[in-house]
Amino acid sequence: MSTPLIAILAGDGIGPEVTAEARRVLEALDLDLAFEEAPVGGAAYRAHGHPLPPETLDLARRADAILFGAVGDPAFDALERAFRPEQAILGLRKELGTFANLRPAKIFAGLEDASTLKPEIARAIDLVIVRELNGDVYFGEKSRRTTAAGLREGHDLMRYDEDEVRRIARVGFETAAKRRGKLCSVDKANVLETSQLWRDVVIEVAGDYPQVELSHMYVDNAAMQLVRNPGAFDTIVTGNLFGDILSDQASMCVGSIGMLPSASLDAAGKGLYEPIHGSAPDIAGQGRANPCAAILSAAMLLRHSLNEAQAADRVEAAVAAALRTGVHTPDLGGDASTQAMGDAVLAAL
Ligand code: NAD
Ligand code: IPM
Ligand code: MN
Repeated sequence: MSTPLIAILAGDGIGPEVTAEARRVLEALDLDLAFEEAPVGGAAYRAHGHPLPPETLDLARRADAILFGAVGDPAFDALERAFRPEQAILGLRKELGTFANLRPAKIFAGLEDASTLKPEIARAIDLVIVRELNGDVYFGEKSRRTTAAGLREGHDLMRYDEDEVRRIARVGFETAAKRRGKLCSVDKANVLETSQLWRDVVIEVAGDYPQVELSHMYVDNAAMQLVRNPGAFDTIVTGNLFGDILSDQASMCVGSIGMLPSASLDAAGKGLYEPIHGSAPDIAGQGRANPCAAILSAAMLLRHSLNEAQAADRVEAAVAAALRTGVHTPDLGGDASTQAMGDAVLAAL
């Protein structure tokens, strides 16, 4: 492979702060990597009048992998939707076809007290949420109208077709097969037709994976079980909206939203890697953001896009070691700065 090109799309708020630490870690690995940055989100809207300028999309397409920070800026919340920062990440996911979003949640030693769960419950967590990322109510038709009675009405169409469900179901089964062999499909089939289709298709796909134990759970129950007995989950496969919500919840179970990385993969394995959190406007610019989710996203990039499993293991071990030394950002109950956390990971490397 020629020198792999990593696109750095840092974005807004704490995006640039945490991405800088992840980049430092990648640079410290003695791998031959090239980096190119481009503006995205509110920052891109300010500079170019669009949250996902053509040059940024072009870089994302050219790159071998993308390290993404976060987008979102309250200054732009009143803009027409097409120009809001969030459209950048939605547009990238759609344009790149990164339909499979892996969000692993595992507790690191020493973070049991940061979790809002009892330590013995938190300690058992080792799960991955496989979230569908290109469909669902996120990408269905949206509209506003006024009813005959003069009431404002909003519409978002929730839709999936069977091919979309089948391909994410396969990723769910493949993921479970490489782990503890348990797949829980989360839906709302008791109410939603998209979910009934989802369940039917998942059951069909299960025929190809006899070694995986499949179960089904309604999303409301799943939200409850995730705080009652999260250790019972191995792999969860679910739609775009449910996966979004459950992954934020899972993050707090392992100590902080600043701990959860993600990989968004297309059919060929090309990926966009980003922490699951947002731009955190409430702490932006203060050096308080936890960079671990971004650093762990870089580890996922090494593993899934660059075939550098050893380097990925090294980065994950360094994060674990740094946390064990007690260097914790404020979200974990400590007083380390973003950069100090990055320094600790680099020292452990
Ligand atoms: P958020 O994830 O940005 O923040 C939620 C809470 O968690 C805040 O209190 C924040 O301070 C804290 N937090 C988040 N990341 C942290 C970290 N690394 N370290 C320490 N604390 C952290 O969610 P929100 O407040 O609902 O959204 C803020 C903006 O981010 C919105 O514009 C939203 O649309 C956007 N957003 C973007 C993405 C993305 O780019 N993929 C993801 C989620 C939200
Ligand atoms: C995430 C975010 C995004 C989502 C938003 C910013 C569009 O919450 O990456 O989890 O809902 O997917
Ligand atoms: Mn989210």
